[in-house]
Amino acid sequence: MAAEVVEIRPAEEGDRRPLALLFAAVAEERDGIAAEPPVDVDRRAASWRLDGTLVALGAGKIVGLLHVDVSGFGFGEIGMLVARDWRGRGVGTALVAAGVEWARARGLHKLVLGVFPHNEAAIALYRKFGFVEEGRRRRHIRRANGECWDLVEMGLLL
Ligand SMILES: CC(C)(COP(=O)(O)OP(=O)(O)OC[C@H]1O[C@@H](n2cnc3c(N)ncnc32)[C@H](O)[C@@H]1OP(=O)(O)O)[C@@H](O)C(=O)NCCC(=O)NCCS
Repeated sequence: MAAEVVEIRPAEEGDRRPLALLFAAVAEERDGIAAEPPVDVDRRAASWRLDGTLVALGAGKIVGLLHVDVSGFGFGEIGMLVARDWRGRGVGTALVAAGVEWARARGLHKLVLGVFPHNEAAIALYRKFGFVEEGRRRRHIRRANGECWDLVEMGLLL
């Protein structure tokens, strides 16, 4: 389906709360991201690192985010999510494209990320941009229900 994203732009001060609310909503799914409820929205909003965060706006609202956590060693680690109702419409693709561009402009040499093995949509998205699987951490993330999920490590040389 064609992208319906109006805009991808760097996060601004006024985005803190909508970012934290979107993060909390996706955490509620207990599926794609490591965070699970309860999410302290106020705390997350206050501590959100805006530098390196890109937001996707759809119908005037924040419908997706991508964050690049810049290390001191030249690589950046990505975290991202798209509002459930907006998935499958190219929002994630637009965010990763902008994230790669942002990382190159920052002079990073590599992007990395961790993804759950069952997250087919995310893995397909990253592969589309050339990310390759670099390893798999066994029983890495402990869930609230006591399960321990593997984490696939992916990387893209810029
Ligand atoms: C992963 C996620 C960010 C993808 O965002 P999106 O806006 O749906 O992505 P897009 O619409 O741009 O689709 C990107 C690619 O993913 C693949 N894809 C999308 N939906 C898919 C699905 N349900 N199953 C398999 N592959 C899928 C396709 O290859 C697609 O590329 P194409 O349209 O060129 O074929 C989104 O599903 C999401 O936020 N999930 C919950 C949070 C999460 O898992 N975050 C990532 C943690 S590592």
